[in-house]
Amino acid sequence: MKSLELLTPLETPELSFANRVFMAPMTRSRAPERVPTALMKDYYAQRASAGLIFSEATQISAEGVGYISTPGIHTEEQVREWRRVTDAVHQHGGVIFCQLWHVGRASHPDFHGGKLPVAPSAIPFEGQVFTPEGMKSTVTPRAMSLEEIARTIEDFRKAAEAAKIAGFDGVEIHGASGYLPAQFLEDGTNQRTDIYGGSLENRARFLLEATDAAISVWGAGRVSVRLWPRFTYNGMSDSDPEKTYLYVVEQLEKRRLGILHFVEFPPSDGVKPISPAVRQAFSRVLVLNCGYDKESAEAAISEGRTDAVSFGSLFLANPDLPKRFELDADLNAPDQATFYGGKEKGYTDYPRLT
Ligand SMILES: Cc1cc2nc3c(=O)[nH]c(=O)nc-3n(C[C@H](O)[C@H](O)[C@H](O)COP(=O)(O)O)c2cc1C
Repeated sequence: MKSLELLTPLETPELSFANRVFMAPMTRSRAPERVPTALMKDYYAQRASAGLIFSEATQISAEGVGYISTPGIHTEEQVREWRRVTDAVHQHGGVIFCQLWHVGRASHPDFHGGKLPVAPSAIPFEGQVFTPEGMKSTVTPRAMSLEEIARTIEDFRKAAEAAKIAGFDGVEIHGASGYLPAQFLEDGTNQRTDIYGGSLENRARFLLEATDAAISVWGAGRVSVRLWPRFTYNGMSDSDPEKTYLYVVEQLEKRRLGILHFVEFPPSDGVKPISPAVRQAFSRVLVLNCGYDKESAEAAISEGRTDAVSFGSLFLANPDLPKRFELDADLNAPDQATFYGGKEKGYTDYPRLT
């Protein structure tokens, strides 16, 4: 059997990854009190054979909340309970980063004592938010003041510090999926006329300041940034994704960022992928994601298009995914009905190979 590039180790000056089969961040909505649970500890420990686990999106502040039952990393209790998760992952030989999250306008007043969610600009979008009382329509958010922006960057820094106390090996800034940093970056959601809006440099400022805040705590080698150009859910749009995202990548390269987690929808007709130019522009660890299977991931690594691949739904359903790739074993199919919320079912009960 030919050995797989996917299963070769990856070393950086700061970190050692046992393989290049990374686990993508996945919200599982199983923290009803917003505090990590014993079940979450088991779930992550089961998946510790990933080269690197990116945790589910984890809010940096109460203001950053937009969904029910997602965990945070801004209270002492959350930090203490995350520590149990990271300890368990380390005991099983794993490496885990915390994905730091602020949803911005993708929220609802019901999560904020009736106050409006915040955003770069007061631009509404068509959508539904799953609130404690069920699905509700989105509202027009409130534009953040400069003071609020500075405080939110500080919230990112504090959360990065909390992640260190909680025993994570690094942090990822969630710059994807139409949440706050992406809302600043893309011109469809940012109409500011101050230093956080207008030019591309200004629109990228928030994301880069949040990244710098994380770097101030961890050093660049233990910080990842997740980007997802052409993501159109959550009402997102940008007039020139290639230019916008390559500018950000250049800025991250200047900072010698440790990991760039770049997500692109699988190729479709007439859409030129951006990741080849990203590969050229970024010299440290590149992780690609979205729609990969063993064969396409192996090809991407062996052809030098990426250093590692993160797997979402396949890792969700296969706690021992690297082993299954190694043995060419059958894969469990993900059960979408149990993606979000619930207990063990569809979470910690996917069978391992015997
Ligand atoms: C249940 C579920 C929850 C997700 N939650 C997050 C999240 O919290 N943060 C994030 O950046 N992406 C999230 N994603 C996106 C995944 O990280 C990944 O980009 C997506 O599943 C595509 O990869 P795949 O084709 O390997 O599944 C989620 C995906 C799924 C299926």
